[in-house]
Amino acid sequence: MWPYVLLIILSYLIGSIPSALIVGKLFYQTDIREHGSGNLGGTNTFRVLGKKAGFIVTLADILKGTLAVTLPIILGFPEINPLIVGVFAVIGHMYPIFANFRGGKAVATSGGLILGINPLVFLIVLLSFFVMLMISKYVSLSSMSAGVIGVLTTIILKEYELLIVASILTVFIFYRHRANIKRIINKTEPKVPWP
Ligand code: G3P
Repeated sequence: MWPYVLLIILSYLIGSIPSALIVGKLFYQTDIREHGSGNLGGTNTFRVLGKKAGFIVTLADILKGTLAVTLPIILGFPEINPLIVGVFAVIGHMYPIFANFRGGKAVATSGGLILGINPLVFLIVLLSFFVMLMISKYVSLSSMSAGVIGVLTTIILKEYELLIVASILTVFIFYRHRANIKRIINKTEPKVPWP
């Protein structure tokens, strides 16, 4: 029992590392919670601090999820289910203990979890994200649709364990995008100029 508890706590702490806050404060003397959408995530970092910072933060947030699912192997507990451990990194990313429990919207860290478990599902989800972004220009809508595509992909590939976790992550993603959903309906959600 205790290895499970240990790995879950470790995973939550890894997820709690607020990369957007660290990069913003350390290199730009900016607290991105006071700018843009106020979200501690890659998208708001791109918006407030530019491409370089946005890319670094997105990558760091993805790696948190990937690292979390490899913890059972790295720490010598191969019998522990990495999916359960990984979910706690996403919870840490959304509600970080190191940033007053105000974190990101679950997208990049969920992606990293999926990357560590099944890179094919990750690639399909990533592709769907960019296709939706090209069509809609809404990052939030692309994030939510990527979650749904992730669920559908796991059904098609008959990856039933991953399906359960992908469904939970997609619920997280939709829940954390409540304000974005309202803005999309009101047509006040900002669009990105890309591509
Ligand atoms: O990954 C978060 C993104 O989908 C939306 O972020 O800052 O536009 O609310 P933001």
